[in-house]
Amino acid sequence: MLIAGNWKMYKGQGETAEFCIDLRRHLADLEGVEVAVCPPFTSLAVAVQVLAGTDVAVAAQNVYWEPEGAFTGEVSAPMLRELGVYGAIVGHSERRQFFGETDEGVGRRTRAALDAGLSVIACVGETEEERERGETEDVLRRQLSVLKAEDNLVVAYEPVWAIGTGKTATPEIAQQAHAFIKSLLDVPVLYGGSVKPENAEELLELPAVDGALVGGASLDVDSFASICLSASRS
Ligand code: 13P
Repeated sequence: MLIAGNWKMYKGQGETAEFCIDLRRHLADLEGVEVAVCPPFTSLAVAVQVLAGTDVAVAAQNVYWEPEGAFTGEVSAPMLRELGVYGAIVGHSERRQFFGETDEGVGRRTRAALDAGLSVIACVGETEEERERGETEDVLRRQLSVLKAEDNLVVAYEPVWAIGTGKTATPEIAQQAHAFIKSLLDVPVLYGGSVKPENAEELLELPAVDGALVGGASLDVDSFASICLSASRS
């Protein structure tokens, strides 16, 4: 079971240090759950420092496929490794929607990150229109076609209509989508999309759900820790 907090573009260094100090205290006795936080690039170093010696891992929110070069604005896997970062999210729907990332690019980012020794959380998920048109499985099949199962790869199923909307997938929808993903790729599958302390338990106890990628509710240390505790009971 893995619970990862995707902070998106929130928390500079100061807030990150404060959060991580509190998180250490909250999770001191947690067992049976892997926990990761994914701060913005500029807050990774401080998170790595404050969480050193704990079981909480630090991951980035993206990673580029070239190790270095003239690629303004990008950060490479070796750079993240040098910082002590353990992994990266790749292909988040916000990257696809607002920054033009494609399935092919997601495949290349994932490959390079895994080859450099990072763990990867690769995100997939359909939009509301795609679900209404009955295309969910086609979309997932296409998004997953650039990935292959291997150690250190985890997929996050994040239906776009559930992200930041308060509309969580029903347990039936989540279970069905996760089972479909696992039928194509034999990897752990996290659920993401409006996960909160109030709904974490019913999602995390589903047989095909191996953890959660939490956005908004991961920004508050009490609510994030409470989701981690739910995971330890599931
Ligand atoms: P919310 O939990 O805020 O819906 O965000 C989910 C998400 O995008 C995690 O990557």
